[in-house]
Amino acid sequence: MPIDFNQIPTPCYVIDEHLLRNNLAVIKKVKEAAAIDVLVSLKAFSNWGVFPIFKEYGFGASASSLNEARLAFEELGVKAHTYAPAYEEQHIAEILTYSSHISFNSVNQLHQYMKMADHQGVSIGLRVNPEFSDTAYDIYNPCKAGSRFGITAEQLDDGVPEGVEGFHFHTLFEANSFALKKVLAVFLKKFGTFLPQLKWVNMGGGHLITGKDYDIEHLIKTLMDFKERYGVNIILEPGSAYTYQTGYLVSTILDIVENSGIKTAILDVSFTCHMPDCLEMPYKPVIVGASDARAGEPTYRMGGISCLAGDYMGDWSFDKELRSGDKIIFEDMIHYTTVKTTMFNGVNHPGIGIWGERSGFRLIKEFDHRDYKNRLS
Ligand SMILES: Cc1ncc(COP(=O)(O)O)c(C=O)c1O
Repeated sequence: MPIDFNQIPTPCYVIDEHLLRNNLAVIKKVKEAAAIDVLVSLKAFSNWGVFPIFKEYGFGASASSLNEARLAFEELGVKAHTYAPAYEEQHIAEILTYSSHISFNSVNQLHQYMKMADHQGVSIGLRVNPEFSDTAYDIYNPCKAGSRFGITAEQLDDGVPEGVEGFHFHTLFEANSFALKKVLAVFLKKFGTFLPQLKWVNMGGGHLITGKDYDIEHLIKTLMDFKERYGVNIILEPGSAYTYQTGYLVSTILDIVENSGIKTAILDVSFTCHMPDCLEMPYKPVIVGASDARAGEPTYRMGGISCLAGDYMGDWSFDKELRSGDKIIFEDMIHYTTVKTTMFNGVNHPGIGIWGERSGFRLIKEFDHRDYKNRLS
């Protein structure tokens, strides 16, 4: 049953269970066909209310903080593969209890904590930096010159430190398997000699496996060839791919204002609070029933409800004039949204709901003044 947006109280993020399950099934297919480990990167999506659905598909979890590692353990029932740019002394012991694997960003951090990790039976890895990425967005490029992420090949002159069982790299952003292949060629050139000493290679995230034109068979073959040739376990930790194109941010127009011939629909949601990637990247989201601005058609900016001057995007055209009370439905608003939202300006946080194929709409989280007040003191 398709989503009936009239039933959705706004503002609300709505996950479409059917679309989510399609994505989970595609990723599971890759995991099984290539016989690799695939983790859910919690930084992209951590709405644990829907983790029972994820659990049905048997993925592991990747964490980048104590909070994520603990959530993985408590709500997904797995120990995390953890990586952070640095670990704090007051957190490391607890992180290790929730982790099966831990990757260190520098040799300093490795030396600081490897004994503790080893003692707890946690598999130790190093984040390496192949210094190559073909992403066009600097904000999502962890491999550009001067990056703070990972050890370069040059810094591994003395070989792989004893006790290290794996390498972890992350270079891709919303990429296909051909981009991965290019990264692997560079990785092998720079780090290939170390592979016989390793048990696993974590190839990070950025694999948009559930994207429309993604060549899954090519990915499976690439991974199987690598595994066969180098005899290491392969781990992938995509984030976006799980919830890519699986839901919406549903909002209502509260007012329409006009200045210098520009009409702005003021919404009960905000770009800066609820869709931050739109401003950060930046990218223009798709609105159901709207198109990019077209001459002669009713055209509007969408204005956020915060007081940030830049909290707007434009322009979209509609087939009729908009009115207060109309719904504006932003597509693909599940990954990297709810995990990044803020309550800046005291703006109401949208609810979070799921639309089940048979069960219809279920609100899984509502926010009120207590959530706003409890964040600060
Ligand atoms: C180390 C690491 N792993 C995995 C991911 C997930 O990437 P994506 O959501 O693009 O698949 C990220 C994203 O920043 C990351 O930094």
